[in-house]
Amino acid sequence: MESRFPDDGGRPAPLVAIDVSRQREMGKMTCTVVVGAQWGDEGKGKITDFLAETADAVIRYQGGSNAGHTVVVGGEEFKFHLVPSGILHNKCVCIMGDGTVIDPLCLAEEIVGLEARGVSCERLLVSGAAHIIMPYHRLIDRLQEEARGKGGIGTTLRGIGPAYTDKTARMPLGIRAMDLGDEAMLRELVTAQLDEKNRIIAALYGYEPVSVDEVLEEIKPAAQLISKHVTDTREVVFDLLARKANIVLEGAQATFLDLDYGTFPFVTSSHPIAGGACLGTGVGPKAIDEVWLVCKAYTTRVGAGAFPTEDHGDEGTRLRECGHEYGTTTGRPRRCGWLDGVILRTAALLNGATHLTVTKLDVLDAVAEIPVCVEYKARGRVYKTVPQDARILDDCEPVYETLPGWQTPTTGAKSPSDLPHAALAYLDRMSEIAGVPVRLASVGSGRDQTVEWK
Ligand code: IMP
Repeated sequence: MESRFPDDGGRPAPLVAIDVSRQREMGKMTCTVVVGAQWGDEGKGKITDFLAETADAVIRYQGGSNAGHTVVVGGEEFKFHLVPSGILHNKCVCIMGDGTVIDPLCLAEEIVGLEARGVSCERLLVSGAAHIIMPYHRLIDRLQEEARGKGGIGTTLRGIGPAYTDKTARMPLGIRAMDLGDEAMLRELVTAQLDEKNRIIAALYGYEPVSVDEVLEEIKPAAQLISKHVTDTREVVFDLLARKANIVLEGAQATFLDLDYGTFPFVTSSHPIAGGACLGTGVGPKAIDEVWLVCKAYTTRVGAGAFPTEDHGDEGTRLRECGHEYGTTTGRPRRCGWLDGVILRTAALLNGATHLTVTKLDVLDAVAEIPVCVEYKARGRVYKTVPQDARILDDCEPVYETLPGWQTPTTGAKSPSDLPHAALAYLDRMSEIAGVPVRLASVGSGRDQTVEWK
C-alpha cells in the first residue's frame, strides 16, 4: 500500500487538511485538557466526546491500551482503548501524542473495527515519537505480576510498565512508531530488545525465549497499517496552535494513577495529570486555557492500592451493580465507595482545574443519604489533602458528612433546572470542595444525557 505521506523533503503531510474555520465563526478557540480526578474510569471518554463536537483536534497525551472508554451515540456503543473518541466527529483530527505507548496489534484492530462500522480513520495521526508495545512487553508484564504474587499492582497486563521502562532506559531499548515502517530498523531494534529480554525471561522467570522472527511476523500487518498514520505530529500541533484551533488534550487513567503524584507504587507508568498533557503532546503550558477535571459522583478503583472510602459491604455492591462498574479493558469488577473529597480537592490543585465535570450522578438517584468524605484522620493528625506517602493513606480514616439524597430519577434531565434541589446541592458541595465551578453533569451514558452550565 502506498504511504499517505508523500515525501516533500522529509516533511510528512498530515492526512487531511485541518479546517479551523468552524471555530473561528463560533469564536471558540480553546485548548482544553480533560483529566480524571480519581483512579480512572470517571467517564472521560464521554466528556471528550462532548468537547470534540466543536474541536478541530483531540490529542491523547499518555498511556496506551490500558485505557478503555465507551461512548454511546444514538444507542450504538463504541469502545476505545487507543483511538481518541474524537474520531466519531467527522471533522475532528485525532492524534496519538508523543507521550502515548502504542500496541500495534490493538491499534490496528481498532482501526479495522471502526472502518468496518463506517467510521473513517483517515483523520487519525500517530506521533512518530510514541513508543511501541511489543507482544513480549505484555508477556513481561504478566510474568512480573505473577512474580509479585499477592503484592502485585494489579496491572491491566497490557505491557504498559515494561514499554515505558524501555523508553526511559534508552538505547538500545525503546522502539518508536517512526520505526514501524522500516523493516530493517525494526528487525535491528527487536533483536537488540530481545537479546536482553530473553536473558531476563529465562534467568528470572524460567520462561522460554521469544523468537525475533515470530515477533516480526506477528506484528507485520499491523505495523504496515499503522505506519500509514505515523507522522511528525509536533508539526501538526504547532500548526494547530498557530491557527488558534480548538484543541482537546485527552488524558487516560487519572490523577491518582500518576507515576509521580499518584498512590505510588500502585500507579501506572505515565503522567495522567494535566502537566503530562504538555509532555505528551508538545503543547506548551501557556497555550492551555482550560482544565476540565472529570470526577465520578462516587469513587471506584481497579487494581491494588489505598482507597480510604472503599465500601466492602452492601453499599459498595449496590454502587457496582447500579453503576455497571466492571472494567472496559479487563472486565474486572471495580472496587466502589463514596465520594472522597480529599481526593477531589487534591486533584483540583494538582491539575490546576478550571472546570468540574461530574459523571454518573444518576447512579446516586435512589440513595436516601449520601456520605461524602471531607477529610482524613491518621496518625494523630487531620489531612485535607492526600498525603505524599501512600502508606499513610492506608491508615487514613475518612471523616464523612452526610448530604440528603434526592430519590428522584435524573436520567431525563436536560438542563440544571430539571435537576432536583438535593442533586444541585450535592453538585454545589463538590464544587465547593474542588474550588472550581461545575461545568457539566452526566446523568446517563447517552450524549443527550448531559446537563450543561453555560
Ligand atoms: P497498568 O497501567 O496496566 O500498568 O496498571 C497500573 C494500575 O493502573 C493498575 O492498578 C490498573 O488497574 C490501573 N489502570 C490502568 N489503566 C487504567 C484505566 O484506564 N482505568 C482504571 N485503572 C487503570
